[in-house]
Amino acid sequence: MAPRSVLVGALLSALALAAPAEAAVAAEKVAPVSQAGAPLFPSETVQLTNVALSNLDANQSALFGFAGNASSLSARTQSGCKVYPGDFWWPSHWVWSLFDELLGGALIKTVPLAASCYNSWPEYDATECETVTDNWTNSNLHAADAASVMWPLFEGRTCLPTTNASASCTVGGYSSYAVNVTNVAQIQLAVNFARNAGLRLVVKNTGHDFSGKSTGAGALGIWTHHLKEIDYIENYQSSSYQGPAVKMGAGVQAFEIYEKGKELGFTAVGGEGRTVGVAGGYVLGGGHSPMSSMYGLAADQVLAMEVVLANGRFVTVTEESDPDLFWAIRGGGGGTFGVVTSVISRVHPKVGATVSTFSFSTGTDVSVDAFWAGVRSYMERFPAHADAGTYAYFWIIATGPNSFLFLMNPFFAVNHTLAQYNALVQPWYNDLEALGIPFTPNSTYYDNFYDAWSAGFPLETVALSTMLTGSRLFPRANWESESSLNATFDALRSTISAGYNVLAFNMKAELPTGYTPNSANPAFRTTLMHAITSTSWDADATNAEIKSNMDYFTNTILGQWRATCPDAGAYMSESDILEPNFQQAFYGSNYARLYQLKQRYDPTSLFYAPTAVGSEHWVVKSEDGLPDQNGRLCRV
Ligand SMILES: Cc1cc2nc3c(=O)[nH]c(=O)nc-3n(C[C@H](O)[C@H](O)[C@H](O)COP(=O)(O)OP(=O)(O)OC[C@H]3O[C@@H](n4cnc5c(N)ncnc54)[C@H](O)[C@@H]3O)c2cc1C
Ligand SMILES: *[C@@H]1O[C@H](CO)[C@@H](O)[C@H](O)[C@H]1NC(C)=O
Ligand SMILES: *[C@@H]1O[C@H](CO)[C@@H](O)[C@H](O)[C@H]1NC(C)=O
Ligand SMILES: *[C@@H]1O[C@H](CO)[C@@H](O)[C@H](O)[C@H]1NC(C)=O
Ligand SMILES: *[C@@H]1O[C@H](CO)[C@@H](O)[C@H](O)[C@H]1NC(C)=O
Ligand SMILES: *[C@@H]1O[C@H](CO)[C@@H](O)[C@H](O)[C@H]1NC(C)=O
Ligand SMILES: *[C@@H]1O[C@H](CO)[C@@H](O)[C@H](O)[C@H]1NC(C)=O
Ligand SMILES: *[C@@H]1O[C@H](CO)[C@@H](O)[C@H](O)[C@H]1NC(C)=O
Ligand SMILES: *[C@@H]1O[C@H](CO)[C@@H](O)[C@H](O)[C@H]1NC(C)=O
Repeated sequence: MAPRSVLVGALLSALALAAPAEAAVAAEKVAPVSQAGAPLFPSETVQLTNVALSNLDANQSALFGFAGNASSLSARTQSGCKVYPGDFWWPSHWVWSLFDELLGGALIKTVPLAASCYNSWPEYDATECETVTDNWTNSNLHAADAASVMWPLFEGRTCLPTTNASASCTVGGYSSYAVNVTNVAQIQLAVNFARNAGLRLVVKNTGHDFSGKSTGAGALGIWTHHLKEIDYIENYQSSSYQGPAVKMGAGVQAFEIYEKGKELGFTAVGGEGRTVGVAGGYVLGGGHSPMSSMYGLAADQVLAMEVVLANGRFVTVTEESDPDLFWAIRGGGGGTFGVVTSVISRVHPKVGATVSTFSFSTGTDVSVDAFWAGVRSYMERFPAHADAGTYAYFWIIATGPNSFLFLMNPFFAVNHTLAQYNALVQPWYNDLEALGIPFTPNSTYYDNFYDAWSAGFPLETVALSTMLTGSRLFPRANWESESSLNATFDALRSTISAGYNVLAFNMKAELPTGYTPNSANPAFRTTLMHAITSTSWDADATNAEIKSNMDYFTNTILGQWRATCPDAGAYMSESDILEPNFQQAFYGSNYARLYQLKQRYDPTSLFYAPTAVGSEHWVVKSEDGLPDQNGRLCRV
């Protein structure tokens, strides 16, 4: 292998010497035809093809060519690690410039979002720092940045907003560069370059991911945020489905597809979170929705996808064209099998919903036992409520050693008029009244999904760096006997009483009849409650204190939840990055097949994300010893 490395080194130094002035944008415009059942978006007709590559000389092709035709430079990762900034093999300034030219100027060198707060950065600017500080917990700020993510803990907390301008800010676990993608050719170039040069690759859409899957030290990022096209297809035709569908670019966010649905009179299956991507990591990891109790997961709606594979090729993935990948990519997790450029999903007729919010708490007239009896009465109705097609998002908070707050925020009763909603919840309300618990529901009927969702789901706070989350998909079996329901209730009560707040969804997500099965976590199919809890620590806690806090939370606190349903699982996209035996928890019985397909579609492990399929073969050697992305990515 040594001679090959020497040759490759010569190629790189030759590139370092040759000014890349003669390079032109590497892309070809192709006709908008696709097997997907809808034409390509304009962004998808600009592709890297063999013709486009024929403009490159042999040395450039070695870096940017497709797998199989480019000389593989995998010798660079012989150390077992992806190439890292400062390494001998790290691309020179000229290579990055050439890459930028081939991209048409879309390359962004990462400047951490909060660099304006630090006088060691040229971007230092007190006014800008104030804006970033004020908006830090607003998801829009991070979604609009090429490299920022919404859980800075997993980046490595290397550049948080501060008032101490002389503190340190480094790029840390953010990707080193990102491609601001506006066409498919740019994605193909980035995929080829990262694969050929042995670089770490990440895909960042919004940066919402709970486990730091959209960031990585020394990585080249593919930023899909600006792929915003939406086409409504009134009568989509395929062998398994005829009816309305939408084709969405990878950067489309929940609020955008819902606005389009209101305008055109359809209902889409997307998340409750306003700014979450609807065609990126969300749908690829399963995706639960206020519509899930009626129509299943977002991944279930997918009819076709356009995808750039790890070998750099752009392909259409349908049940007919590639049943294996069609199965794997719908639910098997983002950043794993390829870069999705668009998704075609079923949509549903316009539907109304009643949205209800209310709260109750312990207090002078409500004892701790009465409070919990009120919660218990609610839990007993989970099967009936989910089977009626509703979705409820509720919080249970310890407000003091012996005081608790229950917040219904909101109950989202799809296809229920106000009267139908009230009839559904009346038995629970009766119990609350009998227990002497005061509460005042604020319930409103809206005749369309967008208005109901807008009223019910305010923008959530993000970017807290002193907490870790964990979750469980509690199965219907836990409701099927009094003893198992007792165990479930006791586990929740014990967690909350120990000071760990819970936010949970009462919902179901069965695969609707006639839909093509996919790789979404089988635990979703039987769940009646997706419950999330979190641990937190003081801002000045040491890394050792944080790690021991995390370990206690992961093993002891979440251990109580697992014990009630050891064979169930957890939702990969809203979970604990340290979940033990994540393969079983996040993928269940699908893991073996997903693992096999990962080897087939990504034989060089170009794609890596923490807890993704195949990630057990890799480790991030993080600088602070916490489970973050601020370190070299190496084979185990
Ligand atoms: C406030 C908030 C609300 C949420 N609400 C919901 C909800 O209602 N329902 C729900 O199911 N989940 C919800 N989530 C979780 C959400 O599904 C995940 O955070 C998910 O990872 C977001 O996907 P994204 O593409 O927006 O984010 P990103 O963090 O940008 O990406 C997530 C993962 O997907 C990969 N990825 C992104 N785009 C692509 C692509 N085009 N091709 C291949 N891989 C890609 C990334 O590499 C990464 O691994 C919420 C999260 C937050 C923080
Ligand atoms: C490509 O690399 C080889 C080996 O270093 C060098 O001799 C040659 O001049 C290079 N070609 C171009 C077009 O830069
Ligand atoms: C290599 O390139 C040639 C044309 O330059 C093309 O016909 C062939 O399909 C390519 N092979 C692979 C494996 O990409
Ligand atoms: C940031 O906050 C300012 C007010 O401090 C507001 O005007 C601006 O719109 C916010 N920007 C974002 C991206 O949220
Ligand atoms: C600001 O940061 C510097 C460098 O880390 C540190 O020495 C100093 O004590 C900090 N000042 C304050 C007020 O925290
Ligand atoms: C990314 O590209 C979009 C579309 O061309 C452009 O509007 C935006 O300003 C670019 N963002 C950055 C940070 O370069
Ligand atoms: C909505 O509920 C009515 C009964 O009230 C039912 O007839 C109808 O099929 C439901 N709509 C959907 C889309 O399930
Ligand atoms: C009831 O909820 C709606 C949103 O659905 C809100 O606009 C209104 O202010 C609330 N009313 C009260 C009394 O809280
Ligand atoms: C369930 O819990 C209730 C209340 O603590 C108790 O009365 C009942 O006996 C328990 N049932 C079983 C089967 O454990």
